[in-house]
Amino acid sequence: MLLTELGTPVVLAPMAGGPSTPELAAAVSEAGGLGFVAAGYLSTGALGERIAATRALTGKAFGVNLFYPSAPTPTDRFASYIEDIAREFPIGEARHDTDEWDEKLALLLADPVPVVSCTFGCPSAEEIARLHGVGSEVWVTVTSVAEAQLAVEAGADALIAQGAEAGGHRGNFADRVEDDVTDPLGLLALLQLLRAAVDVPLIAAGGIATGAGLAAALAAGAAAAQIGTAFLRCPEAGTAPLVRTAVTLDTPTMLTRAFTGRRARGLVNKFMLEHTGAPAAYPEIHYATGPLRAAARAEGNADAVNLWAGQAHSLAPELPAGELVRQLSQDAKSALNRALSWGI
Ligand SMILES: Cc1cc2nc3c(=O)[nH]c(=O)nc-3n(C[C@H](O)[C@H](O)[C@H](O)COP(=O)(O)O)c2cc1C
Repeated sequence: MLLTELGTPVVLAPMAGGPSTPELAAAVSEAGGLGFVAAGYLSTGALGERIAATRALTGKAFGVNLFYPSAPTPTDRFASYIEDIAREFPIGEARHDTDEWDEKLALLLADPVPVVSCTFGCPSAEEIARLHGVGSEVWVTVTSVAEAQLAVEAGADALIAQGAEAGGHRGNFADRVEDDVTDPLGLLALLQLLRAAVDVPLIAAGGIATGAGLAAALAAGAAAAQIGTAFLRCPEAGTAPLVRTAVTLDTPTMLTRAFTGRRARGLVNKFMLEHTGAPAAYPEIHYATGPLRAAARAEGNADAVNLWAGQAHSLAPELPAGELVRQLSQDAKSALNRALSWGI
């Protein structure tokens, strides 16, 4: 298990759509954590280039994260939403695709990496066995005990326990509007429930931005933390300038389907507030809103851009990624020592 070989229990969250770069992944791996290459939204060719670029920067282990594909959404579920936003904004074709799942899997089978993680669903037992066959560990993002049990049955080596606090998309296997009436589990509750239910290593994700947060996750039974938002301001990250500034503000976050049709946590803005009833239709709405998001980003207009960030976003420091990994690690040790004296 790769986790036990890490110098520090920090996993860089894959952050598709800009923030993830080979430089960021390599800096985290070089500092003793585990860097990740985000495959989401990339062509298979571009993913191959990112993997090669990361290998050129570090000889240490890193992982690759894939989006698990979902079935096409019936058009009648999102047609009126698209008509509504098209009245005000430029929009694209509301199409469906698999994010090149088969092609990306084939690439990773031909040219393996130490860890393949997955979000939005669980690979089949056969797919996991094939990845095991080429020496890769398979980590699956889960948000509930039921998902964890399915992933363990399919053969997952470790689970990324994603709490409600997490920035970006929820990793739920099924994303149904009907489920919005219930709250997603917070990280602490989820870790305790998973620790009681399954016997594989857990990687805690959601709202961890300091060594004390990392220590809390470890104390609750996680083997490591997967941290995203706290790395958004690192110079190695490809974060858009508008997002770099926005995360420093004391803006609340909320879950929204407005930009992509899949629930994701971001800083509250006008577009989110005006489209709270957006339907569950991923990736169709992601493609439909692409042009409006690109236009707003080019204009520096934060009101119509998805500002994905976790609940502890205002703590993200402007530090080189390696320094951030070292700081998280040292501060976690101090926090755990403090806790051992019962907080006195
Ligand atoms: C900008 C951004 C992009 C993200 N993209 C991905 C992704 O491509 N794949 C994935 O599994 N998780 C993605 N996530 C979710 C992270 O894996 C993780 O759950 C989250 O960052 C943890 O919460 P935190 O942001 O508060 O640290 C993303 C998160 C953010 C903030």
